[in-house]
Amino acid sequence: MRKEQDFYFHKAKKENYPARSVYKLEEAQNKHKFLKRKQRVLDLGCHPGSWSLYAAKIIGEGGAVVGVDIQFTEIPTPKDHAEIHWLCHDVYADELIADLRKQWPGFHVLISDMAPSTTGSRFADHQQSLRLVRRALEIAGLLLHENGSFYCKVFQGEDFPVFVEECKAHFAEVKVIKPQSSRVESREVFVLGTGFKRQRRQAA
Ligand SMILES: C[S@@+](CC[C@H](N)C(=O)[O-])C[C@H]1O[C@@H](n2cnc3c(N)ncnc32)[C@H](O)[C@@H]1O
Repeated sequence: MRKEQDFYFHKAKKENYPARSVYKLEEAQNKHKFLKRKQRVLDLGCHPGSWSLYAAKIIGEGGAVVGVDIQFTEIPTPKDHAEIHWLCHDVYADELIADLRKQWPGFHVLISDMAPSTTGSRFADHQQSLRLVRRALEIAGLLLHENGSFYCKVFQGEDFPVFVEECKAHFAEVKVIKPQSSRVESREVFVLGTGFKRQRRQAA
């Protein structure tokens, strides 16, 4: 186990998070403060649950976190955290948007750590990752409140700059972030969009 991997792995264990990936959200939050108390947060690709747990801690009681994943997730909401609702869904499922709208009138923040099963082909993994983040951006367009925030993981590749431009069409400010807890050799980076500009009421 590499030294930095070991460090974040043990830190996550000590702080009761099921995955070290939590620090890729924590670092961005510490710097940019896009999660705020009492908000509603949608977490796409939430399993095994670290990002949802962390978001629920930051937004606290009175807020809500909705975690969506194709894998079943079930962790009791810790004390003094926002309520966490776990949904087992594919983000491409037609009924997802209607199911979410039935229960929540929109979200202040959408976070997505979704990742495809990697194939070993950089090109294929990049394209699958782009498909997931574009779906996340589409969901943001349907469910984010005006001025909301979007933080997503994407595997870099030749079409990455095009995706950043697509984000710029929806957000007042867009930043590309490589957290220290993300391995240097990993092609993953994170895009943070703040100041969501609602263009028109879109149908699902
Ligand atoms: C890196 S993990 C997320 C880790 C999580 N953020 C945490 O901190 O615990 C990526 C997740 O994306 C999910 N995922 C991939 N494709 C998906 C899809 N089409 N719909 C929903 N979830 C998906 C996977 O099942 C996997 O659990």
